[in-house]
Amino acid sequence: MDWRKICCPIDFSDCSKEALAIASDLARRFSGELLLLHVYQAPSYALPEGYVLSAPEALRAVSEDVTRRLNEWERMAQAQGVAVTTEARMGVPYAEIIAYAKKIACDLIVMGTHGRTGLQHAFVGSVAERVVRIAPCPVLTVRWSQAKH
Ligand SMILES: Nc1ncnc2c1ncn2[C@@H]1O[C@H](COP(=O)(O)OP(=O)(O)OP(=O)(O)O)[C@@H](O)[C@H]1O
Ligand SMILES: [Mg+2]
Repeated sequence: MDWRKICCPIDFSDCSKEALAIASDLARRFSGELLLLHVYQAPSYALPEGYVLSAPEALRAVSEDVTRRLNEWERMAQAQGVAVTTEARMGVPYAEIIAYAKKIACDLIVMGTHGRTGLQHAFVGSVAERVVRIAPCPVLTVRWSQAKH
């Protein structure tokens, strides 16, 4: 199989950095393209009546921060000689990853087994687990090996 369109969802964790290295390597070998995706959640706070979204300035600050980080990670992959596209989406991470993978019809998803928000002793993070269950294409999960760091 040719892995030409590779989607790499990242949460800027060390584990997703390892996934990015493998995704970049595959994209380079197959002269494919790499699509980096980050999903962020809108800053909000809970009141008894329900959730209240933060002010537009707060949303803008989050979106700018995400763009800045995505650009940094894009440059890391480009340094490996790979064609990279970035995408930032707001919403529920696993749902947006699946929706994006369907939209771009990627051949492969490469992601970490763990991320930033979970317990290291969990077998696999909840975003990774859900994506593996319902992805429209094969999923390669990459375990973060502490020994290497
Ligand atoms: N918000 C996100 N946007 C894009 N990719 C993500 C996002 N969150 C997680 N991922 C991807 O999923 C991988 C596994 O992260 P996951 O969130 O499942 O584990 P965790 O943070 O350790 O645990 P949990 O989120 O269940 O508490 C990450 O390495 C990354 O590739
Ligand atoms: Mg997580």
